[in-house]
Amino acid sequence: MPTTPVALVGLGSYLPPQRITNEALCERLDTTDEWITTRTGIRSRHWAGPGVATGDLAVEAGHRALKSAGLEAEPGAVDIVVLATTTPDNPCPATCPDVAARLGLGPIAAYDIAAVCSGFLYALAAASAHITAGQARRALVIGAETYSTILNPADRTTNVIFGDGAGAVVLSAASDDTEDGLVLDIDLGSDGTGRDLITIPGGGSRQRATTSAPDADDRYFTMQGKQVFTQAVNRMTESSQTVLDRLGWTADQVDWLVGHQANVRILNSVARGLGIPAERAVINLDRVGNTSAASIPLALADAAAKGSLTPGARVLLTAFGGGLTWGAAALTWPDIVPV
Ligand code: UT7
Repeated sequence: MPTTPVALVGLGSYLPPQRITNEALCERLDTTDEWITTRTGIRSRHWAGPGVATGDLAVEAGHRALKSAGLEAEPGAVDIVVLATTTPDNPCPATCPDVAARLGLGPIAAYDIAAVCSGFLYALAAASAHITAGQARRALVIGAETYSTILNPADRTTNVIFGDGAGAVVLSAASDDTEDGLVLDIDLGSDGTGRDLITIPGGGSRQRATTSAPDADDRYFTMQGKQVFTQAVNRMTESSQTVLDRLGWTADQVDWLVGHQANVRILNSVARGLGIPAERAVINLDRVGNTSAASIPLALADAAAKGSLTPGARVLLTAFGGGLTWGAAALTWPDIVPV
């Protein structure tokens, strides 16, 4: 059965204005700028102000991606919206229908995807599949997070790492399989035996089974950093290699590696494992931290705005996150202006 090629035709991003420097965190946590920069590469991140939720950031990024694609935010602009997030506005309902409605996109399909830091790649795969299957001609894919709302203020390790933000892309059925911007391959994986390495213990149906009183600390995000580090390097390297092998690309042919911005040491290790020079790994975590599902589109927007991503460039995406989940994708860069 012939499948419809899928192209990336728009890119938008949004960061909440409040910038939190390492120095600001040092004022209330037992940490140092030196520890944060040497262990993670992060210098500052953005946190949403009180009352600002993930959906608010998603709407901003969605608007910008539509504009970048030359589309008005109106019914018919896209046929489906998929939102990747770990920090939905509410446990129920999903955030995406509200985002679609606020964007004025009409009564179209809209749903959330929960794959933590791999969420954007899972959402990209889902939206691409809708287009390939002929269920949609155009899709809006958003990654948006407000981790500042789930961080334990006393946990220095997670506080220094995570930031808030949103990024979005517009995907479209492509007219032929030679144009720039094509999503060429996506690989996804998971290992639920590692579920406790990254978790929010409370707030879900599992907690109901306990007889103890709900503990406020159970609502905070937790991460076993060291074990996650090793898994992140291995899984992102393997998944990326799978995509390279399937496409017949060599490391030399990859113009840009755009990895989940978790830690500069992780990104350098993945690049080294693949044989891609570190200079070809996109880095924006120094200014935004780890923004989970928003990480890859924010990195793409940053690299595109700097002029690093040029039309036709071969781009390899990869991510790893809670679940455990991971993935990689390859595309050629389109001739677009990010907003
Ligand atoms: O986004 C999903 C995927 N996430 C990731 O991929 C994150 C992966 N993990 C990491 O990036 C790193 O493991 C961290 C940045 C989280 C931690 O770096 P690390 O080099 O693995 O440090 P560590 O956990 O081994 O801790 C080393 C020391 C410990 O002290 P002791 O036991 O050696 O005395 C920690 O208590 O650093 C201490 N520490 C800190 N010190 C100052 C932990 N956090 C901090 C901090 N400031 N913020």
